[in-house]
Amino acid sequence: MKVGKRGAKGATGGRSTLRRWDLQAAVQGITGTVTYNAPLDAYTSFKIGGPADVLVEPADVDDVRRLLTNVRGKRIPIFVVGGTNLLIRDGGIRGIVVSLAKLRAIKEEPGQVLYAEGGVGMPTLISYAIRRSLAGLEWAAGIPGTVGGCLVMNAGTRLGEMKDSVKAVRLVDTKGELLDLPAAAIPFSYRRARLPKGIVVGVWLQLRQGAKAEIERIVKDYLHYRRDTQPLTMPSAGCVFKNPPNDSAGRVIEAAGLKGRRVGDAEVSTKHGNFIVNRGRAKAADVIALIGAVRRAVKRRTGVKLDLELKIVGDVSRHG
Ligand code: EPU
Repeated sequence: MKVGKRGAKGATGGRSTLRRWDLQAAVQGITGTVTYNAPLDAYTSFKIGGPADVLVEPADVDDVRRLLTNVRGKRIPIFVVGGTNLLIRDGGIRGIVVSLAKLRAIKEEPGQVLYAEGGVGMPTLISYAIRRSLAGLEWAAGIPGTVGGCLVMNAGTRLGEMKDSVKAVRLVDTKGELLDLPAAAIPFSYRRARLPKGIVVGVWLQLRQGAKAEIERIVKDYLHYRRDTQPLTMPSAGCVFKNPPNDSAGRVIEAAGLKGRRVGDAEVSTKHGNFIVNRGRAKAADVIALIGAVRRAVKRRTGVKLDLELKIVGDVSRHG
């Protein structure tokens, strides 16, 4: 079994090895939602992506444990959607895709600690913290992903990153057991948290008592800045490339004259060069072709080699 937010890789063409009855056995007893051949476009901020063999939306943590227990020792890939820096190829994802959308409880605990289930959206969590005058999550203003997704990729902005706020993490491991890990036991690096294999079902965040108006002001200012400089009203996957050392990928792409460049309905945003927006019916193949064109043009015109921040997963479409 392969479990992880980024578990599904490349064009593996593994459909033939995954028999329907294996998948049916894997989802046995699940009380949440199980959908076969489920389109995934609605589950990504890009609004792009082929189907999952099976999409599971666990009703609760017990459901997650059941799923991982069922697939224990089997060669069934599991991929968790929830991050937003994600592009799912047009052929979709083989095996099981998990959405934690139903795991969205938030609890306040003593000592300015919030416990958020993995499917809680970051914007929801920030609003909850503001209502309780809890400071410390302002850095995450404008990040649209889930808490679990942000944890796994150590999401961050120029104001801070996930590792600054995490107290502990609860995951269901590959045996289907609950494992609580203190933050100190998790090696975090740039856009990455090294975790044992499993599914993150909750995160404890260590916040601090603050002044409500002040927290709200910082969050609003930052949201305004992002709204002014980024195409937040169009489907996208956030920044496509990592920033090159001491520079901004968006600035370099603009300098290379690439804003507005299109392949099909995929377009280099005219607002921020490091965003590719979906103008309607973009395919993953269009986005990938555009990424290649941008990379080549930037290298040729400025000498800068851009590395992807976006994660690309799933199979290429058999229909081209
Ligand atoms: N710039 C341009 N043209 C552009 C875009 C930017 O000239 O098309 C210039 C801006 O004028 C500014 C500089 O580049 O002088 C930096 O731009 P910005 O403040 O937008 O920051 P960034 O480095 O481009 C980073 C993160 C964003 C995050 C913003 C704001 C990365 C790769 N990018 O962008 O993160 O929202 O700061 O905090 O880390 C993401 O991770 O998905 C993402 C969008």
